Amino acid sequence: MSFVPKEIEDYCIHHSSKPSQVAQDLMNYTQTSVHGSNMLIGEMEGSVLKFLIKLGRVKSIIELGTFTGYSALIMAEALPEDGQITTIDVNPETSKIAQSYWDKSPHGKKIKQILKPGLEALATLSGEFDLFFIDADKNNYPAYLEWALGHLSPHGLIITDNTLWYGKVLEAGLDKKTDSIREHNENARLLEGYTKTLLPIRDGMFLIQRS
Ligand SMILES: C[S@@+](CC[C@H](N)C(=O)[O-])C[C@H]1O[C@@H](n2cnc3c(N)ncnc32)[C@H](O)[C@@H]1O
Repeated sequence: MSFVPKEIEDYCIHHSSKPSQVAQDLMNYTQTSVHGSNMLIGEMEGSVLKFLIKLGRVKSIIELGTFTGYSALIMAEALPEDGQITTIDVNPETSKIAQSYWDKSPHGKKIKQILKPGLEALATLSGEFDLFFIDADKNNYPAYLEWALGHLSPHGLIITDNTLWYGKVLEAGLDKKTDSIREHNENARLLEGYTKTLLPIRDGMFLIQRS
């Protein structure tokens, strides 16, 4: 889903930094061979993530929602050599595809996978992290946000994907997922001591920075 006309998004992508060949191969494979490939963040959002990771000198990332590993690989490419990303998912098949592509990249060694439901996986982690990328089951968005807020490093950043949810967030009571995303967005809006911006990039990227 994108709120920007395709020709404009293509023009933006053309003028932005390109993903690696391995990342492009992974995207092609996912689009041709994996059910649900519309879940990929895509090139536009990928270039924004990379930019923010470099700008914020991010070194540690938690990702909720690995899928076939495209966003994890894109983020790993922007991390410094000693950077680390832990990515969480419940699906063993897509996680296996992810690992097989990370193994082809020099940045793959920065990525660690946890194959568990998001909240269960988070409960095994401790410490502070520079970036959270929330892109897993929508019903747990408020809980993921709460956990991330409690484990964010000073000046750390939370990015939550699909926060416009095809535009459905404009209406309350449509369905459980939409209401959960609305709750996440409202909780984020009410935060004090954070800088927030909800961008209409792809299906909505909510950026929340501890300031
Ligand atoms: C939108 S996709 C992630 C896309 C990925 N970030 C990318 O752009 O390549 C959402 C993922 O969340 C996973 N998921 C669903 N329920 C989950 C849960 N309870 N805990 C962790 N992951 C979950 C799904 O298996 C799916 O792979």
